[in-house]
Amino acid sequence: MNTKKTTPPTTQPKESEATHLTTPDGFAAALDLINPHLYTVEERIRSQARLFDPAVEGYVAYVCGKGGKRLRPALALLSGGATGKITSSHVDLAVILEMIHVATLVHDDIMDGAELRRDQPTANAKWGNSISVLLGDLLFAHALRLSTNFSNNDISRRIADATAEVCSGEILQTQRRFDLNLSITDYYRIIEMKTAALFSAGCELGAFISEANPEVIGALRAFGSKVGTAYQIYDDLLDLAGTEKETGKTLGTDLRKGKFTLPVLLLLQGSSRDRVRQLLLGEESLDASALEELVARSGVIPTAAQTVARLISEARESLSSIPANRYQAGLDAIAIHVAALATRLAAR
Ligand code: IPE
Ligand code: IPE
Ligand code: MG
Ligand code: MG
Repeated sequence: MNTKKTTPPTTQPKESEATHLTTPDGFAAALDLINPHLYTVEERIRSQARLFDPAVEGYVAYVCGKGGKRLRPALALLSGGATGKITSSHVDLAVILEMIHVATLVHDDIMDGAELRRDQPTANAKWGNSISVLLGDLLFAHALRLSTNFSNNDISRRIADATAEVCSGEILQTQRRFDLNLSITDYYRIIEMKTAALFSAGCELGAFISEANPEVIGALRAFGSKVGTAYQIYDDLLDLAGTEKETGKTLGTDLRKGKFTLPVLLLLQGSSRDRVRQLLLGEESLDASALEELVARSGVIPTAAQTVARLISEARESLSSIPANRYQAGLDAIAIHVAALATRLAAR
C-alpha cells in the first residue's frame, strides 16, 4: 500500500472532493477527506514520547516516530465522519489504536526475529529482545492509560477487550506453529483475533463516539472485521510474494517461524500435499525456498487473492446498510483498495 504522507492542513476538505472516491484514486481521496485529522493524530502520537521518563522517551520516540500507513486511525476517523462529526475524541481513539498496533508490531518483530520495520531497524535489532518486550508492554500500558480519558468507560473497556483479543490471537498462532493439522477455519480464527479485532474496534468505536444507532454501529463493526481479515490475508501474501523494498519490513518470516498462512494451507489441500507436508516438517528441516517456489507455481496466491476479494465484497455489503455520505464512500474506497492490492500482487 502506498504510504500517503499527511501534510499540514490548509482548509477543511470540501464536499466536491468526494467525487474522486469511485475512481482508482479513491484510496488517496478517502485519506484526503480526513487529512487534517490525520495530521493531528500524527502530532499527538509524536507528542506522547515526551510523557515518559527521560530514560525511555527515546525508545518510544523511535518506534512511534516512523509512521506506517495509519490504516487503523484512518478507518476510525472515517467511521466517525460517516456517522457524525469528527471530534477530538475520534482523534484520541485513532492515537490509541495506532499505539496498540505499534506495541503489537514491536512484540511481533521479536517473535519473528525481524530486523526491518517501517524502513528502519526494528527495536529488537537496535536494543535487543529484553528492552523490546518491555517497550511493547509500555506502549500497551500507555495506550490503555490514554483510553481512561474517555468519560464513557464502555469505550476503554472495548479497547481493552480488543487488545486482549489481539494478544490472544498471537498466542494461538504461536501455539499452532508448525502444526500440520491447522485448518483454514483455525487460521481465520487466528487472523480475526490478531488483526481484525483492532480494525473492527476502530470502526465500531468511531461510530459509537458519534452516537450512531446500534444497527449502524453493528454494521461498521462487521465492516471493520471483514476488512481487517482481508487485510491480514493480503499481508500474508506479501510475506510470500512481496519485496522488502516495497513493504519496508523483513519478509518470509511466516514460513520460517512456522506460521502457516492461507496460501500454504491451500497447498496442503492440493495435489502436492505430501510433498508440502514433507517440506513443512519442522523448525530445523523446513525448506522455505522450495516451498516458496511451490507457492509461486501452484496458483494458491491468486486463489487467496480471490478470498480477499470475497471478504471485501462482504465488508462492502455491511457498509451499504449505513446512510451514504462522503465518509462512508471513503470507507468503501479503502475496502476496494485492499482488494485491488491483493489482486495486483497475485497478477504479477
Ligand atoms: C502490519 O500492519 C501488520 C498486520 C496486522 C498486517 P500494517 O501493514 O498496517 O503496518 P503499518 O502500520 O503500515 O506499518
Ligand atoms: C502481525 O502479523 C499481526 C499482529 C497483530 C502484530 P504479521 O506477523 O503478519 O505482521 P508483519 O507482516 O510482521 O507486519
Ligand atoms: Mg510479523
Ligand atoms: Mg505479515
